Amino acid sequence: MPPTLRPRRLRQSAPMRRLVAETRIHPAQLVLPMFVAEGIDEPRAIRSMPGQVQHTLDSAAREVERAIAAGVGGIMLFGVPTAKDAVGSGATDPDGILNVATRFLAERFGDATVVQTDLCLDEFTDHGHCGVLDERGAVDNDATLERYAAMAIAQAEAGSQILGLSGMMDGQVEHVRTALDAAGHLDTAILAYSAKYATALYGPFREAVDSSLTGDRKTYQQDPANRREGLREALLDIAEGADIVMVKPASLYLDVLADVAAASDVPVWAYQVSGEYAMVEAAAANGWIDRDRMIAESLTSIVRAGADVVLTYWAIEHAQLLGTHG
Ligand code: PBG
Repeated sequence: MPPTLRPRRLRQSAPMRRLVAETRIHPAQLVLPMFVAEGIDEPRAIRSMPGQVQHTLDSAAREVERAIAAGVGGIMLFGVPTAKDAVGSGATDPDGILNVATRFLAERFGDATVVQTDLCLDEFTDHGHCGVLDERGAVDNDATLERYAAMAIAQAEAGSQILGLSGMMDGQVEHVRTALDAAGHLDTAILAYSAKYATALYGPFREAVDSSLTGDRKTYQQDPANRREGLREALLDIAEGADIVMVKPASLYLDVLADVAAASDVPVWAYQVSGEYAMVEAAAANGWIDRDRMIAESLTSIVRAGADVVLTYWAIEHAQLLGTHG
């Protein structure tokens, strides 16, 4: 008996496949992470992230113009300071590089795109941890919350519209929300990097921000073995007042992303991190993988799993592609 049910009917041509595709990506769903460095005159290449650079203020402005022209949804800023100390003073200093870059870009482009900032101490501390340390050298959760509150106010005053809380301290969303509200920053949104795993995939990022970390972040970022805990972290952050929750990394954590997407009543984002980017670029540079197909497939899979928005270093390139072929 020949089959009567033939799913292949809807796969027979490119126009037919395009018509019935379940997952579509719009450029506005892509957010571009960017690094802005203090004390450089020219953009500086990041060796482990081919095609990405540490920006000067001027090159950052040009990149934001390209992002806006491509229809990208927003930009996420990271600062690379020249000086670091135990408490990450540069993070709360209005003249610190991240706050300077935020003010510079928000003034110029705040009406045309959403300027967002990473809120974490690791780029600013000499020990490279996401929080301040106690006398035994362990990350002190509650003392760190005070630093995050000050950092949040500095970033909001600089013009950041969404604060990306990526430090994985307990209670950080509620603490920062309370501080923002008390300072009158009622309109500043909180993106909680809720389910953030202690992954090898942040490797290239450490070069991107000149990280001084020795050791690891396993006492605050999540164990890759834990799926249920990812959902728990997201639900806690929603209860604490997060406007958006995020799962990070993306590709290896699609199960967690799908769980969070199914349970969340706020937008769910995913971060396609530096290692996900670097692996594809490295394999493609060797001719071992089809780069363009790989980028499209990875982003499609992340959105298919439930991400409303993806932070990706390919945001401009992919938005341009969608603009012409989408
Ligand atoms: C913390 C932070 C990290 C990333 C984003 N925010 C590094 C870390 O937690 O170790 C990683 C992003 C990437 O790898 O692309 N400030």
